[in-house]
Amino acid sequence: MPNPKTLISEEDIKARVEELAAQISLDYADKEEIVLVGVLKGSFIFLADLSRRLSIPRHIEFIAVSSYEHGSVRSGAVRLVMDVRRSIEGKHVLIVEDIVDTGHTLHYLIDMLKSRNPASIRTCTLLHKEHATEVDVKIDYLGFAIGDEWVVGYGLDYDEKDRTLPYIGVINPDD
Ligand code: IMP
Ligand code: MG
Repeated sequence: MPNPKTLISEEDIKARVEELAAQISLDYADKEEIVLVGVLKGSFIFLADLSRRLSIPRHIEFIAVSSYEHGSVRSGAVRLVMDVRRSIEGKHVLIVEDIVDTGHTLHYLIDMLKSRNPASIRTCTLLHKEHATEVDVKIDYLGFAIGDEWVVGYGLDYDEKDRTLPYIGVINPDD
């Protein structure tokens, strides 16, 4: 398979992550601490870069979910595979996602974490497929809006491949 075609370059990702970190640092400047909840596996590289650029006290947690799939058709149901390790009650939570596609995953996570009474809950995603949305979710911090195509790299995969590409690429499954 040829290398995926570049959609967003390494330089553009770096610049945008810096902007997001600056905005988040500003918005949470008066808070004691922010709890970043990275959604595994896709967000691990974005979270690593974003968290290191924040200028505010931060605590890192991870959560893992899986989408129920019937054959190749997504049902929209989401299952919790791994939970955070520390209580988020009274904390300022920022969910960090790689990509919002239909919106079901983020919708599920917001609902679930909200029920644990955090002081606040916001969402940050590197990518959003605007035209694939099935459920509306509020995205507070967005890296880039993209088209409805399968992207890989910077943490995102296709069948576990291409997660460590330094840029966001588009794959053509027919290649
Ligand atoms: P949603 O529940 O449909 O919004 O899907 C969210 C999850 O599907 C993301 O967290 C990704 O793990 C995965 N996903 C959706 N689109 C892509 C893509 O283009 N590349 C890689 N993973 C994707
Ligand atoms: Mg994800």
